[in-house]
Amino acid sequence: MSGRLAGKVAIVTGAGSSGPELGNGKATAILFAREGAKVLCADALEERAGETAAAIAKEGGAASSFKCDVSKAADCKAMVEAAVQRYGRLDILDNNVGISVRADVLEVTEEQWDRVMAVNVKSIVLTAKYAIPHMMKGGGGSIINISSIAGLRANQSTPYSTSKAAVIGITRSMAGDHGRQGIRVNCIVPGLIYGPMVAGRMDAALRETRKQASPLGTEGTGWDIAWAAVFLASDEARWITGVALPVDAGFLVMSPTTNARLAQQKF
Ligand SMILES: NC(=O)c1ccc[n+]([C@@H]2O[C@H](COP(=O)([O-])OP(=O)(O)OC[C@H]3O[C@@H](n4cnc5c(N)ncnc54)[C@H](O)[C@@H]3O)[C@@H](O)[C@H]2O)c1
Repeated sequence: MSGRLAGKVAIVTGAGSSGPELGNGKATAILFAREGAKVLCADALEERAGETAAAIAKEGGAASSFKCDVSKAADCKAMVEAAVQRYGRLDILDNNVGISVRADVLEVTEEQWDRVMAVNVKSIVLTAKYAIPHMMKGGGGSIINISSIAGLRANQSTPYSTSKAAVIGITRSMAGDHGRQGIRVNCIVPGLIYGPMVAGRMDAALRETRKQASPLGTEGTGWDIAWAAVFLASDEARWITGVALPVDAGFLVMSPTTNARLAQQKF
């Protein structure tokens, strides 16, 4: 690895994996550490964050775990304080946590709606509120929020889609608010990633359909999201803020007709 994040301190939220497949947060924490960052792996379930921190330590990186429910202000404050206390500064905040409820407006309960919005959107306000002052002390920082193509396309999950559209909105707003403080705020818009959030409801045929839905025709993993996060976190992205970066094998540029032509191999 090239040490692109050498000397930097990062927090990754949702740094564990909710299943046996590699999660986006876990992959991001691992690549941040491989690139030289010291990483606070935060998760509501500390044993999951601990697994990621242990995997990083095993390959010689610097990481530790922290238990944090990102929908709670006190937890977010304690998480930021722990990162600064353990590693001396804070440069990177990867707001990776996201949960989904498969429901339309007729089905969703008020409690489900509030929980998705609290975990996926309010969390970004809470983590950033405590992180930005420390980033400013260090001369600036990079905040990376994880959205989804579900924020741009219907996804049979209205609470999730709404929250992921809000992640794009808050990213742009924060980029405008905090640029002069040296804080860059960008978001990644993952496509049809094969990871723990979706693997449980997927058979081989559906995996293949998802693969074929994009121009590249290949399956994405947590590593694809993690490499984009490394770039946005690094000084190489010093002039980039307010961006919503699709990492989706081109899924968003496809139309149903292009899809049909690709299926028939007529180019
Ligand atoms: N197919 C996909 O995997 C896909 C596609 C598009 C976008 N995304 C986005 O990627 C992000 C998650 O990716 P992942 O693969 O790491 O997910 P994941 O399901 O593996 O979850 C990561 C971790 O988040 C933790 N978590 C859940 N609620 C929490 C809370 N309130 N506080 C702290 N931690 C909490 C879980 O314990 C889990 O270990 C989400 O924002 C998701 O919306 C995923």
